[in-house]
Amino acid sequence: MKPKVLITRKLPEGIIKKISEVCTVELWDEEETPIPQEELAEKMINVDGVLCLLTENIDKKLIDGSPKLKVISNMAVGYNNIDIEAAKKKGIIVTNTPDVLTETTADLTFALLMATSRRLIEASTYLRNGDWKTWSPLQLAGQDIYNSTLGIIGMGRIGEAIAKRALGFNMNIVYYNRSRKLDMEQSLNVQYSELDDLLKESDFIVVMTPYTPQTTNLISEREFKLMKKSAILINTSRGGIVDEKALYDALVNKEIYAAGLDVFETEPINLNNRLLTLPNLVALPHIGSSSINTRYKMANLAAENLIAGVLGNRPKHVVS
Ligand code: DGY
Repeated sequence: MKPKVLITRKLPEGIIKKISEVCTVELWDEEETPIPQEELAEKMINVDGVLCLLTENIDKKLIDGSPKLKVISNMAVGYNNIDIEAAKKKGIIVTNTPDVLTETTADLTFALLMATSRRLIEASTYLRNGDWKTWSPLQLAGQDIYNSTLGIIGMGRIGEAIAKRALGFNMNIVYYNRSRKLDMEQSLNVQYSELDDLLKESDFIVVMTPYTPQTTNLISEREFKLMKKSAILINTSRGGIVDEKALYDALVNKEIYAAGLDVFETEPINLNNRLLTLPNLVALPHIGSSSINTRYKMANLAAENLIAGVLGNRPKHVVS
């Protein structure tokens, strides 16, 4: 008998077909609506594997209530939506989709860096609103990227890909990481820095660290006070790493120059969130990895991880 799997969102047809060749598939056939938690719990009782997105909260209750579950395949590199310890205790494999999204996420991070420093969204709105009456010397003047200092917090694969892009802008690059990466320091001409020093020295601060209890609110009131008044903060990792209230205050009080966020404490963001009222905040709806090619590759990798897991083989990317 084929193993039974649940796929929690509509995926490209080819991917569903590939999984269906080996598994009996139950599909939550929606593009924009996540599966409700109760329905997810009910469906997971009978499946050997689940392919889920970062929108699904795979908590202990859900894991403990899924007696047949062998594998949780997350279509994302981050897996803070899954209770890894609970899965581990039950011998359930958890997998993710690293590598395939590295370059695309680094591109988007750089796009935010450019949009914030050169005020692109503000400038576009200015033009469309009919405010462009003439050319003037300091009209929409922003900050330079070239020759500036970039501080990367969390030097994993995506951090390195951002550093490579920064070299093309002749940026001076510093990084903070749990452990030093000496080879990378040499090959990319990057300097290690303690976190506080990085915050004090950088013109651009990019948050790339995973979201864990240790990194929750890593950037908060104290950290903003250490930054330059001209600093720009970019977060394309996870929302909870930057304290949004402290960020709002820092932007309003001009403690920093601007911020670019692709991720938020609550997603989708509540439209009443005060951050959205600020012209020096560029906000995107968690689209870091969203190129057609990359999203296809992520879905394909998640499918391969799922299939390997339910067939009792070792998936390519196991996180627990
Ligand atoms: C991830 O993979 O963790 C991103 O946030 C979505 O691509």
